[in-house]
Amino acid sequence: MHRFVSAAGRAAGRVPASCRGAGEEALRGAAGRPPRGARLPPEGTARWSSAAKASAVKINEKASREKILTLESMNPQVKAVEYAVRGPIVHKAGEIEKELRKGIKKPFTEVIKANIGDAHAMGQRPITFLRQVVALCTYPNLLDSPSFPEDAKKRARRILQGCGGNSLGAYTASQGINCIREDVASYIERRDGGVPADPDNIYLTTGASDGITSILKILVSGGGKSRTGVMIPIPQYPLYSAVISELDAIQVNYYLDEENCWSLDVNELRRSLNEAKAYCNPKVLCIINPGNPTGQVQSRKCIEDVIHFAWEEKLFLLADEVYQDNVYSEGCQFHSFKKVLYEMGPEYSNNVELASFHSTSKGYMGECGYRGGYMEVLNLHPDIKGQLVKLLSVRLCPPVSGQAAMDIVVNPPVPGEESYSQFIKEKESVLNNLAKKAKLAEDMFNKVPGVHCNPLQGALYAFPRIFIPSKAIEEAKAHKMAPDMFYCMKLLEETGICVVPGSGFGQREGTYHFRMTILPQIDKLKILMEKMKDFHIKFLEKYA
Ligand SMILES: Cc1ncc(COP(=O)(O)O)c(C=O)c1O
Repeated sequence: MHRFVSAAGRAAGRVPASCRGAGEEALRGAAGRPPRGARLPPEGTARWSSAAKASAVKINEKASREKILTLESMNPQVKAVEYAVRGPIVHKAGEIEKELRKGIKKPFTEVIKANIGDAHAMGQRPITFLRQVVALCTYPNLLDSPSFPEDAKKRARRILQGCGGNSLGAYTASQGINCIREDVASYIERRDGGVPADPDNIYLTTGASDGITSILKILVSGGGKSRTGVMIPIPQYPLYSAVISELDAIQVNYYLDEENCWSLDVNELRRSLNEAKAYCNPKVLCIINPGNPTGQVQSRKCIEDVIHFAWEEKLFLLADEVYQDNVYSEGCQFHSFKKVLYEMGPEYSNNVELASFHSTSKGYMGECGYRGGYMEVLNLHPDIKGQLVKLLSVRLCPPVSGQAAMDIVVNPPVPGEESYSQFIKEKESVLNNLAKKAKLAEDMFNKVPGVHCNPLQGALYAFPRIFIPSKAIEEAKAHKMAPDMFYCMKLLEETGICVVPGSGFGQREGTYHFRMTILPQIDKLKILMEKMKDFHIKFLEKYA
């Protein structure tokens, strides 16, 4: 650190030698250019005044001032957060893409990002009707255009009437636009065969992520052994571990049964709960159905068992149902937790606290960027409802275009309406294609030696188990990498295919997996799977 030059010294034009070079350096910047706002005498003409030199020293002093926010001083809960879906492998994929653009030769010409469930990014086309309504809401002058169908205009007018100043640009109520919450409630009633839904229990959210985070936030309390424990499936969608970490809650793992198509066994829930009681206060049970990354669809019996368990053990249930439209396997059907809860009778339906989540991001629409979603929260203590609304109101409201997109998901064209046939055609085309790709991925993975893949009953991912030879495990350790991260990095470097290592989702000790989306177009998916097969065989040979 440099000392300030004394007034006498400045007046005499004397600057300590140690300051001179550094001062000029600071004024000119590392690249020889002055930092913004610093005035330099024209080079080679005037000599530096002592005042300029002194101010250069001051600037240098400022430049070396210690940062307030450092890795040591930052919020340790945020530092502990990990989110594998956008983790180091994706960073590496980005670097490789840059190298390809610079013309650096690789054994492939493009990076295929099969790491994230982002349908449109993988080429899926938007559902026309949804976009028409959002476009009309965004630019109401289009309501006069003959290019838009009447049923889209009708919905857009209704949404706009629910907006302040009839504009999508106005804040809405924190719980979301009333008429959209009514549409969500009607959708739930239709979906659940007439089980009543109250718009007052519906909260529109910024994607499902925001709803899940808000509910967890309000649930976490206590210190030491009474700190809230949150039970999550392993493998899990890493939003859960990330939020638990951020809130400094206690993660309580229960394992899905890979040998039985990743099913959920209540005995395992009991084991996990009983062990957790020794170190925390487990009061939340999260279920993902259909599962991410595991793709299982829970049977009605299993859901009933889980609800009974939650009732018995006084657990708050979180049902993540964002993949409710993504069910492919014959004999599998989506059953909502809400419906099963009501079918179990009033003792359950009047008592079990349940929050269930849905989103515009998945299903057949894949509108991740709109950040639309809703949650239905049942049996909440009346005092807590106010607290929840207060918490949501701090962030004002979810994006209004996302709310409009959510409306179309729950209020699509019906038979007899102008847009119905095109809507159904588009929706079925997406879902039939996904079903084909789910089967293709399962079949192709199971043909590869050392790979086993459970049926992709639903959702958007394959989560195959891979055999990694001990020599490769040793090499991974030498690189301070989890063995499946090492495998996925090699896969990326050699084939350009970007998938997420199983360790990012959690898996049983000594087992290795990766998650791959089935979103690439079918021809691309076939090529990708062939490349993966060749890579895996070579990998086994290399580390045999
Ligand atoms: C199981 C699960 N829950 C929640 C989300 C978050 O979705 P959203 O985009 O609605 O926030 C995802 C996204 O992939 C998911 O897979």
